[in-house]
Amino acid sequence: MRFGHFDDQHREYVIERPDTPLPWINYLGNEAYFGIISNTAGGYSFYKDARLRRLTRYRYNNAPLDMGGRYIYLRDDDPHLSGSFDTLRTTPRTWSPSWMPVRRSLDSYECRHGMGYTTIKSELAGIESQTRYFIPLGDNLEIWELTLTNRRSETADLSVFSAVEFALWDANDDATNFQRNYSVGEVEVDCSSSAGGEGVIYHKTEYRERRDHFAYLACSEPLAGFDTDRGAFLGPYRGWDAPQAVEAGQLSGSIAHGWQPIGAQHVKVRLKAGEQKKVIFILGYHENPKDAKFDPPDSQTINKCTVLPIIARYLNADEVEKAFVALRKYWDGLLGKFTVNTPDVHTDRMVNIWNAYQVVITFNMSRSASYFESGIGRGMGFRDSNQDLLGFMHLIPERARERILDLAATQLPTGGAYHQYQPLTKRGNNDVGGNFNDDPLWLVLSVAAYLKETGDWSILDEAVPYDNVPGTEKPLHEHLQRSIQYTLDRLGPHRLPLIGRADWNDCLNLNCFSDTPGQSFQTTTNKEGKVAESVFIAGLFVLAAKEMAVLVESHQSNVEGTPQTFDLQPSTFYLNAASEMEKVVWAAGWDGDWFRRAYDDFGHVLGSKENDEGRIFIEPQGICVMAGLGMEDGRAEKALNSVAEHLATPHGIVLHQPGFTRYYLHLGEISTYPAGYKENAGIFCHTNPWIMIAETMIGRGDKALDYYLRINPSAREELSDVHRCEPYVYAQMIAGKDAPAHGEAKNSWLTGTAAWNYVAITQWILGIQPTYDGLQVAPVIPSAWDGFEAVRNYRGVRYEIKVERRGPGNSIQLEVDGLPIAGTVVPFPPQGTKQVGVLVIVK
Ligand code: BGC
Ligand code: NOJ
Repeated sequence: MRFGHFDDQHREYVIERPDTPLPWINYLGNEAYFGIISNTAGGYSFYKDARLRRLTRYRYNNAPLDMGGRYIYLRDDDPHLSGSFDTLRTTPRTWSPSWMPVRRSLDSYECRHGMGYTTIKSELAGIESQTRYFIPLGDNLEIWELTLTNRRSETADLSVFSAVEFALWDANDDATNFQRNYSVGEVEVDCSSSAGGEGVIYHKTEYRERRDHFAYLACSEPLAGFDTDRGAFLGPYRGWDAPQAVEAGQLSGSIAHGWQPIGAQHVKVRLKAGEQKKVIFILGYHENPKDAKFDPPDSQTINKCTVLPIIARYLNADEVEKAFVALRKYWDGLLGKFTVNTPDVHTDRMVNIWNAYQVVITFNMSRSASYFESGIGRGMGFRDSNQDLLGFMHLIPERARERILDLAATQLPTGGAYHQYQPLTKRGNNDVGGNFNDDPLWLVLSVAAYLKETGDWSILDEAVPYDNVPGTEKPLHEHLQRSIQYTLDRLGPHRLPLIGRADWNDCLNLNCFSDTPGQSFQTTTNKEGKVAESVFIAGLFVLAAKEMAVLVESHQSNVEGTPQTFDLQPSTFYLNAASEMEKVVWAAGWDGDWFRRAYDDFGHVLGSKENDEGRIFIEPQGICVMAGLGMEDGRAEKALNSVAEHLATPHGIVLHQPGFTRYYLHLGEISTYPAGYKENAGIFCHTNPWIMIAETMIGRGDKALDYYLRINPSAREELSDVHRCEPYVYAQMIAGKDAPAHGEAKNSWLTGTAAWNYVAITQWILGIQPTYDGLQVAPVIPSAWDGFEAVRNYRGVRYEIKVERRGPGNSIQLEVDGLPIAGTVVPFPPQGTKQVGVLVIVK
């Protein structure tokens, strides 16, 4: 069953009814001011950091779902109507054009989530309304552009109300520290018409003291009234579904002192039959210089001289339209960098639109704010952001560069890493644990991907501190060396890497031994951890060390004269390290038919035929084959066949089998989840593309695309009642075969699944992959595909690629601008070349 449809031409998903199984959300914002918005206008906004600079309130885990948003109420002011929020009335008095929060049935409803904007359109009793929500590029504000049309045959007198509930900046404190909160809230309402800011509501809690920022809500029309105190607006014991002031058609001009500051505005609109009118609301964030906060300087009144011109600009409908067109152009530019035309609509749609879009969103948000991430739980993950970058490089390389340097600056002198940092401060912290021994290796992969995309070798010489401590700066290449060394310094009894708190699987906590209810597996460690080892990290190490070897070789051939302080070892060092580790994996990490997963603190194996539960895990099958293990002797194929046999389901590939049926003290959080969910044998989508990549490496394009489509959100659209999350983005998890809700997705949007699937489909299945020597084109496509076309912008050159299947296999013959070349890498064209045509014959 579907709840909407894709409109690929406009790059939109069109939701056809408001009561989707879960709120289906979208993101607004590109660089600093961000918001999440649901299909019924729920969600919230923040500046840079969803925890530290929250603008508006949202109630997670609420009943009904999705409370708190960018609300607009409409009221029919016809004096003959009586009554109010009775949603069964045939002649409606009041309603929400976004359905929530009033939830009165609408005569029509449509929500279009697009690239950085959302439009909600509905009609009730002849009044059509359409609200376009977006954040203009380069400014810290959001626009709600409401267009009302009277489709009745007589004049309509309407009241329009806007309403937001302000958060008191620190979202955690805002949701917990009420003994303080209820006394600090402050607002200011500009009632003077002279300065041009008439009717603007300013939220300025703590501005009197150390903050130099405030929020504001402004409207393009003269106000008939306002409220800033929630109690006054809603009325006693009422909710957002039935504010008393809306019912009465009159706001009271309340000024919040403490309690819950809100912004609510009232605009009266008279529309003749067929008439249309725009009302623009803007909600924004603004900072003033510390020494110019007040006007007059000795007062406590906000200095508005720099904010008013911004407000004035965006209350103008032409400016709003210009800003929207600019936003569309921006996304046209980004998404135009790589487009494909294949025989499969789901592949095209995800590669050209939604997967690329999700990659940008995960780049921006890491794991901080979604419908499932509260914005106060987790920030920018070290391993997460390094992996998110893998799909992002070609989109905005300058921002990728900055992100890499920010991440590296939180690396510790040991080579280890803080597990996350807070976006506002860019300082690493241990809030969700530390000592995840895989963390530093991901930095190697992201830097290598950046270099292959851009050829910008200068990044390696950037001086980057450790732990953000000034004076500890070392070139980025030293950070990479320490990342590799970190693993080599931490080998266990089998000479496999020690796992630390956990590896990629955060919940495989082999040193925690936690028996205390509520204790966090992510932050507690009860064992020193000198025994438990990870085969996954071994595989990742081989992959990273081989990357380092190629990086060093390419550095030598691309950069003249090695810098005096070059901390990287010769490539042979990394190759030897990789091959030593491979030997260890074959000796201790191979189980006969698949790769083992780990050794626990007692030295017992996990992910082996010896185990009753957790006999086979997906992660080492993916990563070890990706690292090239078993390619020559058939063991890679064997491992992948075992995945197909034991782990694959129609809804995707589960993390392991059998799921753990009870809590195992020595395994940790993985065994806390009921089997089939999350890390306990759920379909953890992040890992599936590793198998797709591995399948292409052994030449099985049919299998790779088959796995790709099992979790492709668009391909699952028809199952929306089972899948339940948005059909346009990947979710972190789909319930595995042990779960009663097998096939149900959770934790959509913020997941490494986005970047990895993008990499798997574009670089491995379609086979278009940047290398140090040029653009490689080596597709491993399904046998039934007769070819595909792609356009890839790479280092300023537009590659027009045409792939033709002329035989059943994967052997490749390239013709570049009409001339055959050897190999699968298109060499860099002469300087100044704008376009290269590549014909790829697959046999
Ligand atoms: C989740 C993981 C997550 C970890 C850290 C665990 O409860 O299952 O997926 O990475 O917490 O926040
Ligand atoms: C989600 C975390 O963000 C990610 O870092 C981790 O690898 C997976 N969960 C698996 O535990």
